[in-house]
Amino acid sequence: MQIPFNRPYFTGNELKYIEDLFNSVQNGESDSHISGDGKYTRKVQKFMETKFGAKKSLLTTSGTSALELASYALNLKHKDEVIVPSYTFSSTVNAILIAGAKPVFADIQEETLNIDPEDIRRKLTPRTKAIYPVHYAGVSCDMKHIMEIAEENDLKVVEDAAQGVNAKYKDKYLGTIGDFGCYSFHETKNYVCGEGGALLINTDDEAITERLEIIREKGTDRSKYIRGEVDKYTWVDIGSSYLPSDVLAAFLYAQLGKMDEIQEKRMKVWNTYYEVLKPFEETGKIRLPIIPDYSEHNAHLFYIVLEDENKRNSVMKELKNKGILAVFHYIPLHSSPMGISLKNKEGDLLVTENLSKRLLRLPLYAELKNYEVKYITSVLSMLLEIPEITSQYL
Ligand SMILES: Cc1ncc(COP(=O)(O)O)c(C=O)c1O
Repeated sequence: MQIPFNRPYFTGNELKYIEDLFNSVQNGESDSHISGDGKYTRKVQKFMETKFGAKKSLLTTSGTSALELASYALNLKHKDEVIVPSYTFSSTVNAILIAGAKPVFADIQEETLNIDPEDIRRKLTPRTKAIYPVHYAGVSCDMKHIMEIAEENDLKVVEDAAQGVNAKYKDKYLGTIGDFGCYSFHETKNYVCGEGGALLINTDDEAITERLEIIREKGTDRSKYIRGEVDKYTWVDIGSSYLPSDVLAAFLYAQLGKMDEIQEKRMKVWNTYYEVLKPFEETGKIRLPIIPDYSEHNAHLFYIVLEDENKRNSVMKELKNKGILAVFHYIPLHSSPMGISLKNKEGDLLVTENLSKRLLRLPLYAELKNYEVKYITSVLSMLLEIPEITSQYL
């Protein structure tokens, strides 16, 4: 049996919406085009504002570009410091560097692998300007404590919710709690359009939203022009090209329309893994994800934590030999070549280093079948020398 690590789920409406867009352009309907900010981009943005409760959302070319846009909005300066976990994807920290500021790495909590508020406090200096928490695996960070630290110290908060679309901290959707939230619709995420993302703007300050629209549109006020607010558009600020083609927005709109169905399918797989592997955890040979009471996760990924790095690597290799693609991440950013060039070193963040060596992600996608989960868990039971357990969930 061959089981890939990830497989995107298609709802069946993607081509229908793309065809609709194609026909509207072909028929010369006003306001229909395949470049950015067309009718499907507006539908997607409206959906996100209504469903998640963001004041404003901007569709972007990626989660990476949403993070970069947020960094520009903070007006970070040379020597400003931003506290961020090292246990994340490079994009979270590149966004800080691109804006000219200094990333200061904080350790993670053992239970969730999310940034540790206590370590944020230890890393505060008079130069700290912002915190970039990352909701790892779609499990919420401890937002109460993070927002308290931000308020006490007058800091901005940019939530990296690339993995956290449709997940919640208590009754609030991830990405709507800090000043800005960043989503990813990359092929590997829960809701996809190949490459794509969104910035959620959670401030009432119209000037910030206006500036972000300008930066997203190559430094021009074209968004105002499209809305008919000015009769021509021109270059007014720095900027780049952060808006995706409306073809991608049409694809994404199909995914968002089936958001609950996709989440339900993923959750079923996540819960099956959890229930079947629970007795494995009781042997002390693996640890399963821990979901705090304040978190309503979105089944973005399923991991196990093994005894040590050697065991993790040998299990990963043997799974591959049996046709199962399991992977690990992240190599902590502070001890990566770029992290070291920024004067960080191995030994700086002990929880991050320990867990990143022991974590293994199992295949998880909406259409992973029960018999495949059964195969994966029975291979695991053999590799870990745990007697196979028959479960009502399989
Ligand atoms: C935590 C985190 N941040 C940022 C990103 C970047 O998102 P994108 O691939 O859409 O640029 C990812 C994607 O893998 C991610 O997992």
